[in-house]
Amino acid sequence: MDIKEIIKQTQKPALYEKGSAVMWTDPHISEQLLQIHLHPDLDLASRKYSTIKSTADWVLAQTNKEQMNILDLGCGPGLYSEIFATKGHKVTGVDFSENSINYAKKEAIEKGLDINYLNQNYLELDVPEQSFDLVTLIYTDLGVLNPNERNTLLGNIKKALKPGGIFIFDVLNDKDLNKKVSPKNWEAAESGFWRPNPYLALSESFLYENEKVVLSQHVVTEDERKEVYRFWTHFFSHNDISEMVSPFRFTDLSFHEDVLPVGDIWNGDNVTFCVTKNN
Ligand SMILES: C[S@@+](CC[C@H](N)C(=O)[O-])C[C@H]1O[C@@H](n2cnc3c(N)ncnc32)[C@H](O)[C@@H]1O
Repeated sequence: MDIKEIIKQTQKPALYEKGSAVMWTDPHISEQLLQIHLHPDLDLASRKYSTIKSTADWVLAQTNKEQMNILDLGCGPGLYSEIFATKGHKVTGVDFSENSINYAKKEAIEKGLDINYLNQNYLELDVPEQSFDLVTLIYTDLGVLNPNERNTLLGNIKKALKPGGIFIFDVLNDKDLNKKVSPKNWEAAESGFWRPNPYLALSESFLYENEKVVLSQHVVTEDERKEVYRFWTHFFSHNDISEMVSPFRFTDLSFHEDVLPVGDIWNGDNVTFCVTKNN
C-alpha cells in the first residue's frame, strides 16, 4: 500500500477534477445499488416506494393529459417508468447502468408492460427529436452534473420535447449549506458496498462555497486497485434554477416544495421540484 499516494488522493481536489472511476456502471457496485434501489423503505438509491408512488401521481397531475409519450431519464430499475406505463402512458426509460436496465426490462416483461428501456448515457441521448410530451429527471440528478454537462443534458431534453412539452425535475436547495458537509468516515471490510474483496474506503466531503457545491469523495483501496469516486452535488436557490433553464427557452417555470412527505429524509425543506415548459 502506497501511503503517500493515498494521502495525496484524500486531499481536497480542484473543483470538478474527475475521480478515477464511476460508481453507477461498475458491475459489483451497480449490483449493490440495485438492491438498495429496490428496498421499499429506504430513501437511498431511490426514494422509498410510498414516496415514489405519490410523486409519480403528482408528476402526472402536472400535465393532466392522457396517453403521453414520457421520457424518464436516469430511470434506474424503472420504478417511476412502471407507474407511468401502468397509467396508460407510452414510456421510454434511459439509464447508463446496464444492470438496472436489464432488471427493468425483465420486470416489464413479467408485468406485461410495454416500456422502451434504453441503456444510454443521457449526455449522449439518442431518441427521436420533438417526440415527448413529458421528460422527467427525478432524484436530484441534475445537481450532480458539472455546469457543462448540465447544459448538454438540458439541450438534449429541449430537443427531445415536443413544442409545449413539460420537463419535471427536482434539485437540492441551498439552505444551510455548511450543514451538508458530512464528517470524515472510513470503512475496512472483507467485502461490501464498494468491492467483493477486502478493501479500505476513506470518505470525506468538501464544501466549495462560492459555487454552492459539495464534493463527496471516496478513496477505495484494495491490494491491487486504487480508485477515487467523486460526487459533485450542486445546491440551488429558485433564482439559480431560473438562470439555469432560461437560456434553453423553457418557460412557465414553477417551484414546488410540497411534493415529498414531511417526515421523509428528503422533503420540502431540502428538495425543490420544478416544472417547466418547452417553448
Ligand atoms: C439516484 S438514481 C435515481 C434513479 C431513479 N430516477 C429513481 O429515483 O428511482 C440515479 C440514476 O441515474 C443514472 N445515471 C446517472 N448518470 C447518468 C447518465 N449520465 N446517463 C444515464 N443514466 C445516468 C444512474 O445509473 C442511476 O440509475
